[in-house]
Amino acid sequence: MHIIFLNPQGNFDQKDSHLTEHADFGGQLVYVKEISKALVEQFPDLKVDIVTRRFKGDGWSSEFEKEISYYPGISRRLRIVRIPCGNDSFLRKELLWQHIPEWTDNIIRFYRNQLPDYATAHYGDGGYAAVLLKKKTGISFTFTGHSLGAQKLDKLYKKEPDFDKLDEWYHFSKRIQAERLSLQHADTIITSTDMERYKQYSHPLYRGAVDVEENGKFAVIPPGVNIHLFNQIVDEEDKALFRRIEKEGVETQKPSIILSSRLDDKKNHISAVRAYAESKELQQKASLGIFIRGMKNPYEEVENLPAKERIILQSIIDEINRHHLRDKVFFLDLASQKELAGAYKYFALKHSVFVLTAFYEPFGLAPIEAGACGLVPVTTKNGGPGDIFKNDMGILVDPADTEDIARGIAKAFGNYEEYADKVIRLVKGKYTWEKTAAGYYQVVSDALGSSYEEDFDLPELDTKELILRHLKSL
Ligand code: F6P
Repeated sequence: MHIIFLNPQGNFDQKDSHLTEHADFGGQLVYVKEISKALVEQFPDLKVDIVTRRFKGDGWSSEFEKEISYYPGISRRLRIVRIPCGNDSFLRKELLWQHIPEWTDNIIRFYRNQLPDYATAHYGDGGYAAVLLKKKTGISFTFTGHSLGAQKLDKLYKKEPDFDKLDEWYHFSKRIQAERLSLQHADTIITSTDMERYKQYSHPLYRGAVDVEENGKFAVIPPGVNIHLFNQIVDEEDKALFRRIEKEGVETQKPSIILSSRLDDKKNHISAVRAYAESKELQQKASLGIFIRGMKNPYEEVENLPAKERIILQSIIDEINRHHLRDKVFFLDLASQKELAGAYKYFALKHSVFVLTAFYEPFGLAPIEAGACGLVPVTTKNGGPGDIFKNDMGILVDPADTEDIARGIAKAFGNYEEYADKVIRLVKGKYTWEKTAAGYYQVVSDALGSSYEEDFDLPELDTKELILRHLKSL
C-alpha cells in the first residue's frame, strides 16, 4: 500500500530545521513526521511519502531544494517528496492557496502512472490539494484540519473588525472554502479529541459542508508524544545543556514556571506573565522561565523580530519591567526539539510547572510532551487540553482569568508528585505516535476499496459573502 501525506506548508528535513521558529513550522510538522515514521516502522507493507512544497533561499535548509530525501535510520519506504509551485522561494501558508492547483498538477506529474493508493491531507491547504487530486485521479483521502480558519477568524475579528483588512493578510475567504471542500469530500475527518470534532467542526462557517453527528465521517485519533525524545532519560547531550543552563545563571534553587510555546497571538503568553506578576506568592515560590528560539538577549533583540512576534515579546518585556521582575524572570534560547526536551527534563528535576494559557488550543501536544519529561502541565481549558486532562488528569485554567491561572499553578506546586505521575501514565497509556499511526492505518485500510464518490463540481475559492453574513451575527 502506498500512502501520501499532503502538507504543502512549512517543509521537512532530517534536522527539523526551523521547527518552532516560524508559525508554518509548528506542531503539525511534528505530527506528520512522527506518524509517517511510525507507519513505516509498524507496517512493512507500507510505502509513505510526505509530500510538501519545494523551495530555496537564504536562511532555509538547503534540503528544501531537493526533490526527494529520507530520514536517516528510517526505512527508505518513507520519503520526503518536494513538489514546486508558484515561485521557488518560501511562501507563508496564507499565500499558498492560489498555487495549490499547480502544486496538485505537479504531484500528479511526479507520480505519472505510479499514483499512490490513498492520501492523508493536513490543514486546509493540504485538504484543498487532496480535493483537486481526488477530482482528477479518484484517489480518496482523510482530512486532518489541525487548526481551522473559522475559530481564528472569530478571534482576530474581535480585535480587528475590518474583514477586508484581515483578509488581505490571512485570506480567510480562500481558507474557509478550502476547508469546506476538504470536509465535504474527505472519506474521513480525523480529529485529536471528541471536543475538537463537536466544537471546531460545528462552527457555522462549516454548516452544509459537514455534519458533526455523522459518525462514519469522523475518527478521533489522538496524536502522540515522541517518547524517544520527550522522556525522563538524561543523556550526555542533556547534561551538557544542564551545564549551560546553570552557567547562564538561571535561578536554579527554586522551581520554575515554564512558558515554551512560540510567540503567537493565540498562545496568550501575556496572561501567564500577568498571573505571575500579580502574585507575590508565586514569585516567592518560583522563577518564570520563557523559552525562545534564536535570541541570545531578548531585551536587546526584541526590536529585530518580525512585527507580530515583536509586539508579543515587547508586551511581555513591558510587563516584566512594569513589575520590576527582571531578577525573577529568565529567557532560555533553545535551538531544537532535543534541547527543548533537555530543558524540560532539567526543570522537571526542580519540580517546575509547564504553563500554556492559549485562548484556544486545537489539541495541545506541548503540554503532554512537557509532561512526558516530568513537568506538571497547567493548561487552558479551551480546546484539546480540556479533553486530555479531563477528570482531574491535569490542571485546567481559564486563560482569560489571571487569578485562575495563578490558582492552577499554585495547585500544581502543592500537589506536584500526584500530577506529575498522572501525566506520565496518561502519555504512556494513550498518547504515543505508535498508537496514532495504528489509528491512521486502520482508517485508511477500511476506506481502501470501499470509498467511492460520484464526480463533483469545484467552486472558486471564495466565501467572502458567507463570511460577512457570519461576522454580522457575531
Ligand atoms: O503546526 C502548528 C499549526 O497548528 C499548523 O497547523 C499551522 O501552520 C499553525 O500552527 C496554525 O495556523 P493558523 O494560526 O493559521 O490556524
